[in-house]
Amino acid sequence: MSDRELDTQHRLLRVSFLVAACALLSVLLLIVIRTGQAPWRILQERFLEQYADGEAGDDDVVIRQHFTCARKVDRCPSCHLGMERKDLADESVPLPFRAHGPALGGHRPDRVGCTACHGGVGRALDPLIAHSLAGRETTDPLMGQPHIQASCARCHVPGAQAGQDRLEQGAWLYLGLGCMLCHPLHEGGRGGLDFGPDLTMIGRKGLDYLKTSLIEPTENFPGSTMPSFRLSLEKEPEATESLLIYLESLVLDRHPGCGAREKSRSLVLRPCGTCHAGEGGRAGGRMEHRCTYILRKSGELRCGNCHASGTPKAARGGGYCPLTMQHRESCSACHDGI
Ligand code: HEC
Ligand code: HEC
Ligand code: HEC
Ligand code: HEC
Ligand code: HEC
Ligand code: HEC
Ligand code: HEC
Repeated sequence: MSDRELDTQHRLLRVSFLVAACALLSVLLLIVIRTGQAPWRILQERFLEQYADGEAGDDDVVIRQHFTCARKVDRCPSCHLGMERKDLADESVPLPFRAHGPALGGHRPDRVGCTACHGGVGRALDPLIAHSLAGRETTDPLMGQPHIQASCARCHVPGAQAGQDRLEQGAWLYLGLGCMLCHPLHEGGRGGLDFGPDLTMIGRKGLDYLKTSLIEPTENFPGSTMPSFRLSLEKEPEATESLLIYLESLVLDRHPGCGAREKSRSLVLRPCGTCHAGEGGRAGGRMEHRCTYILRKSGELRCGNCHASGTPKAARGGGYCPLTMQHRESCSACHDGI
């Protein structure tokens, strides 16, 4: 290499260093400027001016956060300042200062937090990041209805409480369309016909990806043996969305520590024959089934249909009826860990 060539190379190197340094400096400067007028500070100052209620400690401009029972930090209250203020429930109070609507119910924000239901990035103080699906630029579909219902499955049996109709519809579609045959949801999750992958492990995918998996399975996996559900779903946008809500719910972590989910588990595991031992399979006692599945399938499951005079003795198969065992495959669509 000649001296002249070397010289131009050195000069090029120096110029690119200078450009890189300038770029870094301007990024740093931008950060300084931005934190100087961080949106949460501006919002808190405005909130204190207009809505301060004079309670001690409430008039400082500080980061406000909940440490939730899922051991997460949610800083959403840094901007959403009036969530628990009954006096700010009116529609005329602008977001993010307005009190939470009735959907919050008896859930305590200091335990449940916000991201358990709304998704988003709990630690973020930038509104765009806080409202987004972690690692992406799109708004988290769990932020609002109807997709927020996927979150209810973290703590509730789908359909157990009001406000989960779409999630429950999705669970029924999952059973009715036969997804369970190839994607079983029992503990372990994998297997079934055709070795469909464990859908509880696919991680949070965008809605487009999930929809493509249903309508055009070979697009995500060339050579996929999964049948297309175009015919069943394309003309049923509401049903499709409910199924997507249910699929979204499968990958969310469960929060048994702060939820009501575990309550019915021991009952589910009990053989039906322990109670249904009377004439025609009738059960004694005052218990009433609340299981939406058993209620809807009661015609098929009623013991008296086949065991006209009392259920057989429970000795041989441990008390498990082949019919109810067959249905038990379906229980895990709503009940965890079966
Ligand atoms: C930096 C301030 C800030 C933070 C942090 C923040 N938000 Fe917001 N949020 C806003 C503002 C401002 C609005 C109203 C304007 C808008 O829709 O963007 C809003 C709107 C919303 C809405 C209503 C959206 C709609 O279209 O009706 C929801 C739901 C919401 N936020 C949830 C959250 C959750 C959950 C978190 C925590 C993960 C959070 N926000 C963190 C400022 C914030
Ligand atoms: C138990 C689940 C749950 C929890 C916990 C929860 N939300 Fe919500 N939130 C909802 C649902 C459901 C809606 C939608 C209501 C509707 O549109 O029918 C909603 C609506 C909202 C809205 C829009 C309100 C409006 O007036 O348009 C905001 C903002 C919001 N939530 C913020 C929060 C923040 C901040 C927290 C944490 C303090 C929180 N939420 C905790 C379930 C929850
Ligand atoms: C982090 C766990 C958690 C999540 C997520 C959650 N819940 Fe709950 N929910 C609870 C707990 C705990 C109770 C208290 C009831 C109990 O003792 O079983 C409850 C009670 C309820 C109740 C009874 C009345 C009331 O308002 O307190 C309703 C209705 C309800 N939840 C609806 C929902 C809906 C709808 C969603 C999804 C948008 C949801 N929950 C998400 C934990 C949760
Ligand atoms: C005949 C068996 C079969 C049926 C029925 C079936 N699937 Fe699949 N599914 C598969 C297989 C196999 C794959 C993996 C594709 C591959 O690797 O070839 C897959 C892949 C998927 C994926 C993508 C998983 C990932 O890792 O990205 C989703 C989501 C999915 N299926 C959902 C469903 C839903 C929802 C239904 C019911 C509407 C359903 N499947 C019915 C066999 C099936
Ligand atoms: C803890 C006791 C208990 C267990 C366990 C139990 N049941 Fe029941 N079941 C009852 C009672 C009580 C009734 C209402 C009285 C009756 O119809 O005999 C009932 C009613 C029913 C009915 C009739 C509902 C109707 O509206 O016609 C069906 C079907 C049924 N049970 C199915 C099952 C199945 C399937 C299992 C096992 C997965 C099961 N039960 C486990 C106590 C139980
Ligand atoms: C479509 C969703 C769904 C499916 C599938 C499902 N369950 Fe349930 N199950 C529920 C709901 C909702 C409740 C009410 C929970 C509550 O109120 O706390 C429930 C409650 C129960 C209870 C508690 C007693 C009662 O009736 O309240 C038992 C036992 C039970 N289910 C058994 C089963 C069995 C066994 C299967 C499979 C054969 C099954 N469930 C499938 C939704 C479902
Ligand atoms: C569609 C028909 C059908 C219905 C409905 C049905 N069973 Fe069965 N059940 C069978 C058959 C078939 C067998 C096996 C025949 C045998 O071994 O005598 C069986 C066997 C059993 C056994 C003996 C299992 C063993 O240990 O050998 C029990 C216990 C039992 N059923 C309980 C129930 C109960 C409780 C219900 C109602 C919740 C019920 N069955 C509903 C068809 C049915």
